[in-house]
Amino acid sequence: MNQQPKSLQTSRRGFLKKSSILVAGGAVGSGLSLARAAHPFGTDTIKIGLVGCGGRGTGATIQAMNTSGGDVNLVAMGDVFDDRLQGSFRSIKGKHGDKVKVTKDTQFVGYDAFQNVLASDIDLVILATPPGFRPLHFETAVKAGKNVFMEKPVATDAPGIRRVLAASELAKEKGLAVQVGLQRRHEVAYKETMRQIKDGAIGDIVLARAYWNSGGVWVRPRQEKQTELEYQMRNWYYFNWLCGDHIDEQHIHNIDVINWLMDDFPVTAQGQGGREVRHGKDHGQIFDHHFVEFTYANGTKFISQCRHIRKCYNSVSEHAHGTKGTADISGGKIYKPSGELAWKTNGSRGGHQEEHHDLFRELRAGNVPNEAEYGAKSTMTAIFGRMATYSGQLIKWDDAINSELALADFDSLKSMDNEAPVKPNEDGSYPCPIPGETKVL
Ligand SMILES: NC(=O)c1ccc[n+]([C@@H]2O[C@H](COP(=O)([O-])OP(=O)(O)OC[C@H]3O[C@@H](n4cnc5c(N)ncnc54)[C@H](O)[C@@H]3O)[C@@H](O)[C@H]2O)c1
Repeated sequence: MNQQPKSLQTSRRGFLKKSSILVAGGAVGSGLSLARAAHPFGTDTIKIGLVGCGGRGTGATIQAMNTSGGDVNLVAMGDVFDDRLQGSFRSIKGKHGDKVKVTKDTQFVGYDAFQNVLASDIDLVILATPPGFRPLHFETAVKAGKNVFMEKPVATDAPGIRRVLAASELAKEKGLAVQVGLQRRHEVAYKETMRQIKDGAIGDIVLARAYWNSGGVWVRPRQEKQTELEYQMRNWYYFNWLCGDHIDEQHIHNIDVINWLMDDFPVTAQGQGGREVRHGKDHGQIFDHHFVEFTYANGTKFISQCRHIRKCYNSVSEHAHGTKGTADISGGKIYKPSGELAWKTNGSRGGHQEEHHDLFRELRAGNVPNEAEYGAKSTMTAIFGRMATYSGQLIKWDDAINSELALADFDSLKSMDNEAPVKPNEDGSYPCPIPGETKVL
């Protein structure tokens, strides 16, 4: 199992100390560290590689290549499956033509594709596989001296979080930029609304709420001749070692907004969840609903809900209640206690493109954004919530982040013939958590 030595384990106090140093330098929120880049790119061509050529990897690459100030060329691509790589190649080529410099020699397929992409002549890598692989891929990218854009979430278990935090420190030492795909932090509408709240528009925060309640996502049914591992890799959303459950994979966006609001992360979590409708044969192990009550060190409660059940009330949003009013953060609106609208943003949305404009502008200016720390801590907050709903227990942050429970040994996977980290039960179903019985620490 991929377990971390004690030296890489982390405490909340240690993180807060580091955060306050960054606050003193005015860097928190912008995600900018004070370091300068090893290489200020100016108007030079920036060469990029893509690892994980699915929907988001393809989109993120196109958005990176849309940025201005100099060319961004794609020179290498890697995926475990050739069909995904070829589909992505065609889409990116369709948008960016000659700026796609990928040849047959720089298309890499298999579990070692990431190593081959990282050994290519690239300045920056986009990491967009399912999140379970992120700690291994991120650590390897930093060791290889590459700037990184990595999708959220950045892990599915606590050992993975500690690995990302350690690699983030190395990135800072090496002057490498790291951006995490929590794009709300780059949306003007969110930034303006958060600025209003932090300037006191609703007074002191007494309660926060966030939701990702929706109908759910795709299912990729088992195909003939697939090995068990290939099936789990294709249908990754439903396997925790790959996905982390939807509280980690999707609801992290809303959880991160509340951590941003609080400039902190919670100290305890308790909650409940389960599988009401998710009983299909391709529904793996994950819950279809979670409800978590997080508590921050100052006593403020954060109510978090995520649900994947059709024909229910849906909301993907974040809200703050203060002593002088309330904020619909996602809606960009501030209300007086009477309910009257006090302020509304005119700021733009579209964080997926904006985050790449921001990243490439900083790289060209010679700055070194580092979002890995809050990206990892917000991912950990989602995992923390999952630990609470799976176990049914009240969990403490320090116990959660120092947990040795690794969901898979990602480093050991070499081929689709390897044993899958999760085995099906005799009836073809998969082991699911049972609150009151499941151990999460
Ligand atoms: N920021 C956002 O709004 C947003 C939106 C969608 C997805 N995402 C994130 O992007 C990531 C990818 O999601 P997606 O929707 O593109 O999924 P996807 O299934 O479309 O793509 C994932 C790709 O990674 C490949 N892959 C899996 N393991 C690999 C490995 N070890 N090495 C190389 N390639 C590997 C798969 O074959 C697939 O092509 C996830 O972390 C997801 O949470 C973020």
